[in-house]
Amino acid sequence: MPSKKNTKVTVPSLQRMKRDGRTITMLTAYDATFARLLDQCGVDVLLVGDSLGMVIQGQANTLAVTVDHVIYHTQAVTRGAVDAHVVADMPFMSYQTSEEEGLRNAGRLIKEGGAEAVKLEGGHRHVGLVRRLTEVGIPVMGHIGLTPQSIHAMGGYKIQGRRAAQARQLVEDALALQDAGIYSLVLEGIPQEVAQQITEVLSVPTIGIGAGPQCDGQVLVIYDLLGMDDSFQPRFLKRYADLAGRIRGAVGDYVDEVREGAFPAPEHSFSHKKGKKAAAKRTQVEQEREEPQEEMAETIPLYPGVNRK
Ligand code: KIV
Repeated sequence: MPSKKNTKVTVPSLQRMKRDGRTITMLTAYDATFARLLDQCGVDVLLVGDSLGMVIQGQANTLAVTVDHVIYHTQAVTRGAVDAHVVADMPFMSYQTSEEEGLRNAGRLIKEGGAEAVKLEGGHRHVGLVRRLTEVGIPVMGHIGLTPQSIHAMGGYKIQGRRAAQARQLVEDALALQDAGIYSLVLEGIPQEVAQQITEVLSVPTIGIGAGPQCDGQVLVIYDLLGMDDSFQPRFLKRYADLAGRIRGAVGDYVDEVREGAFPAPEHSFSHKKGKKAAAKRTQVEQEREEPQEEMAETIPLYPGVNRK
């Protein structure tokens, strides 16, 4: 496991990372348990992405995700994260109708969700909003290239910027967003040469997904990295585990053991029996668990720092 830095990742520290040539690691997170684990691995940025529409809610795309959904998941993530910088995605139609609406919704993600920054999709058409958000102290992460909220306009999840004019537009969008005040920029689904050019012309860090290795950082959807859906195998994805298989294996064992009566075993059960005979039958673990029950109400540790009485 990479060593944890024990220093809070912030907007300025991310910008320093670019200047110092240190690569930024970003992953999506949607709950406190994953946030805590990813934080313990030293992941720099946790994104509460609107990809939650797909991986959490089972939707076909991100379009149905609401501000309330993102707030709910951001609250959970900020409870689990310690050092990682937490960014909340602005969902579809939470900032496209007007700058006022965008300002209000970004404010909710910060105030109610506890996010430290917001991310929004699109280029030059959002420079006004980016300016207003940065003016009031809300850091903005941009997102250009393959922008999933425009799935219908793009006609599917297609690589963007293959044609010279499109590539030029991406560079112009990146510069316009930087000029408006973004502190970092996600580059999704674009040729690596275009990503490299954008990375070189920007002073703020770029974070790529399907945009090659030249970006200042990389991001993946955590469920994809862990191989939670074995039918999802896009070219840009490297699976670092086959959790779908491991989960099916573990849950299959549980189902078998419950049906066979093998679980719960004596060491997973509690008893009123006292005395030498009963005690002799009990395992060491059981004895340790049961002794305190005689003096106090039962306390079962659930998660680190949380006890249930
Ligand atoms: O919603 C999301 O998860 C994202 C990342 C893939 C960048 O926007």
